[in-house]
Amino acid sequence: MELSLKDFEVFIKEETIQARIAEMAEKICADFEGKDLVAVGVLKGSFVFMADLVRHLPPETTCDFLRVSSYEGVKSTGKVRIDFDLTQPIQGKDVLIIEDIIDTGLTMHCLMQRLSVRGANSISLCTLLDKPSRRKDDVDVSVNYCGFKIENRFVLGYGLDLDGKYRNLRDVYALRSEVEEAAGY
Ligand code: IMP
Repeated sequence: MELSLKDFEVFIKEETIQARIAEMAEKICADFEGKDLVAVGVLKGSFVFMADLVRHLPPETTCDFLRVSSYEGVKSTGKVRIDFDLTQPIQGKDVLIIEDIIDTGLTMHCLMQRLSVRGANSISLCTLLDKPSRRKDDVDVSVNYCGFKIENRFVLGYGLDLDGKYRNLRDVYALRSEVEEAAGY
């Protein structure tokens, strides 16, 4: 079944997202006061959230990106691949990983393991969305900053995609419950 935007409904409104980001940023600023903070966006899904979040952070914050892929369509493939890496060393830095959504936790589990050997002063994880009910038992991911814990629904918009589309929507949308089964989700 090919899905389109009409199969989705607004789930988290732009105003709610922005208000929550301001709250999260306040906490992050307090926690990292005086630190050498590197914000690391996990592409592509985090780019909208990251752009809004970092504009609340201190001007000295540096930004870097990496790309990890683990999804095709609406179902996890269970495959995790680092497509490209950070452009700068993180030795001695305080790293804030910025992710769009944590689902099974496999992507972040793998990424955190790989980054942990690079000598950073600290590595923290910030995600806009978290689906805790989907976490795999053998996956250990601790989330330091979470925008919204959500139930197990497929979401898009505000950076999140469906086959590359809809990342530019201002709100987060969720797949309508009446089409979930037909869509195989
Ligand atoms: P995990 O490894 O299972 O935690 O998957 C995390 C990645 O899967 C996220 O960075 C997203 O790219 C993708 N993902 C998980 N759930 C959704 C969703 O509901 N909509 C869009 N992408 C999702």
